[in-house]
Amino acid sequence: AEALRIGIAGLGTVGASVVRMLAAKQAELTRQCGRGIVPVAVSARDRGKDRGVDLSQAQWFDDPVALARAPGIEVFVELIGGEDGPALAAVRAALEAGRHVVTANKALLSRHGVELATIAEEKGVLLNYEAAVAGGIPVIKTMREALAGNRVNRVFGILNGTANYILTRMEAEGIDFETCLAEAQRLGYAEADPTFDIEGHDTAHKLSILTSLAFGCRISARDIYMEGISNITQADIRAASELGYRIKLLGVAQKTESGIEQRVHPTMVPVSSVIAQVHGVTNAVAIETDMLGELLLSGPGAGGDATASAVIGDIADIAKSRPGFQHGPVFGWPARALTPYQRAR
Ligand code: NDP
Ligand code: HSE
Repeated sequence: AEALRIGIAGLGTVGASVVRMLAAKQAELTRQCGRGIVPVAVSARDRGKDRGVDLSQAQWFDDPVALARAPGIEVFVELIGGEDGPALAAVRAALEAGRHVVTANKALLSRHGVELATIAEEKGVLLNYEAAVAGGIPVIKTMREALAGNRVNRVFGILNGTANYILTRMEAEGIDFETCLAEAQRLGYAEADPTFDIEGHDTAHKLSILTSLAFGCRISARDIYMEGISNITQADIRAASELGYRIKLLGVAQKTESGIEQRVHPTMVPVSSVIAQVHGVTNAVAIETDMLGELLLSGPGAGGDATASAVIGDIADIAKSRPGFQHGPVFGWPARALTPYQRAR
């Protein structure tokens, strides 16, 4: 079969890892998918930057929207970031042109996910976003596919690798907040604006997506109570420890009698609890359902290669799909059938 032709916009931490891993894993992917996956076009801001990957076979686009619409591209992979701007324009253009889209952009989906899902479902194309929540952990596929028919009562967890990395090193090594954050940035874990990580916005974006998947409601990050970790001091961590607790930044969504409650805040968890054992850049998502009881998924929540694993899994799903196959809804429930968000009183 002919190779799947993909276009990648954004060649930073995640984009460069995707290009490198696609090259390194071409033989395995071809065997698994029955066809190869080839990046035939790429886009970033600075054409001259050395990204440590071979881009000589790919056509360069300065404009990601032009790449999204370029003839011959079957899948548009958005790894630029940002809730509006070029990421939104390019994803919209790709979907409207009837192209499948893969993105790792939770800020974009948190704000425009329902609109983009509506276009994808009308056009009969896939909008895959496994990497957008909890990095390499396959939580979207789990909630969207494996938990069909389950009634979810609560979903919660550690959804930001940078924040968990900072809290872990502050506690284990007594290192100050700023040094830990700088190291998380150096390792490629943090958002372009790290305020999103440390003030809870990134956790809120991810939580809002999980909430929609869990409860079949429209996405609403606006309705999330949010508090970050920038005020957490060594004294707080020591005090928690003396009482037998650890401080973790959690995102929690649950159904109550009056509506849905969503919150993001530092939480004292007993040292003996499973969630307290989640260290460093690792994320964990707990999902409580009527049929299954409690499911806990944990694994790498950020970083180039771990995130590339989820992105490539999404691309491989498209490579394996058969022409004419009717794709399931983007958020697990048809976009037009998502109920209005009802905030708990
Ligand atoms: P980076 O900042 O490392 O990379 C962003 C890339 O986008 C750069 O290559 C940049 O170009 C390119 N870019 C910026 N503006 C434009 C534009 N106008 N046109 C074309 N290209 C543009 O980000 P990450 O790789 O870390 O993150 C990418 C996405 O993945 C984000 O949505 C992020 O939230 C998400 N994500 C990141 C994870 C991580 O661990 N880093 C994990 C999970 C999701 P140039 O290089 O030339 O400046
Ligand atoms: N900045 C994010 C984090 C990247 O640290 O979790 C993964 O979404």
